[in-house]
Amino acid sequence: MASTPDLEQRRAALEAIADEIRQCTLCPLYTGRTHAVPGYGRVDADILFVGEGPGYHEDQQGLPFVGQSGHYLDELLGKIGLTRAEVFITNVVKCRPPNNRDPLPLEIDTCTTTYLHRQIAIIQPKVIATLGRFSMGLFFPPNARITRIHGQPHRADGRIYYPLFHPAAVLRNPNLRPDMEADFKRMLDLVAAAQPEVPPPDEPEDEPPPRQLSLF
Ligand code: URA
Repeated sequence: MASTPDLEQRRAALEAIADEIRQCTLCPLYTGRTHAVPGYGRVDADILFVGEGPGYHEDQQGLPFVGQSGHYLDELLGKIGLTRAEVFITNVVKCRPPNNRDPLPLEIDTCTTTYLHRQIAIIQPKVIATLGRFSMGLFFPPNARITRIHGQPHRADGRIYYPLFHPAAVLRNPNLRPDMEADFKRMLDLVAAAQPEVPPPDEPEDEPPPRQLSLF
C-alpha cells in the first residue's frame, strides 16, 4: 500500500533524528560507542517500547534489543501476535554505557530531551510501554517501584503509559515470567482502549465517551 505524504514526512523526520543520533557528541557516552542505536520499527506504531540503553550486541549492530533480552522481547511480542516490525523499539539512552553500567542522570536528561521526546512526538504511539526502571522513571513518579506498578496502565497526555519489567530482569529471575506474560497479554486491549489524539471528523459530537480503563 502506498504511504501517505504525512507518513513519508514523519518517516523522513524520524530518519533525520536517527542521523543526528548517529553523529551525536552531546554526552560522554559517544566516546565508547561502536554504533549509536536510534531505534527500530514503524513510524506510526501504536506501541512504543522504551528500554534502558544498548548493550554489547546492540552497540555492535546499531539495532535495539538484538541480544538475549531482545530474543525474549521477540518471543513476548509473538505471544500477542506481533513482530518488532509492527511496533517501535528504542531506549532511554542511545549509546552503550561502559560495561553496561546504569546511565547517569546527565546522560538520561541529554538523550531524552534531545531525541526520545522528539521521536515520541513523531510516532505518536497510543501506548508507551516502559521496559525497566530507568524508562519507567521518565514517565512515573520517582517513588514508583516496578515490582508494585508493573502492568498498571496510566493514562496521561492522551496516551497510555504502561510499566513493564525489563526483559533482562525476567531472564535473571524466571519467577517474574508469568507476570511479564500476563502484562504483555493486556497490551492489545490497551491499544484498543486508547483514545485517538484527534477524534475522526465524522464522529457525532454527542456520542458517549469510550469506556474508561481502570487506571490508577
Ligand atoms: N537492553 C536495553 O535496555 N536495551 C537494548 O537495546 C538492549 C538491552
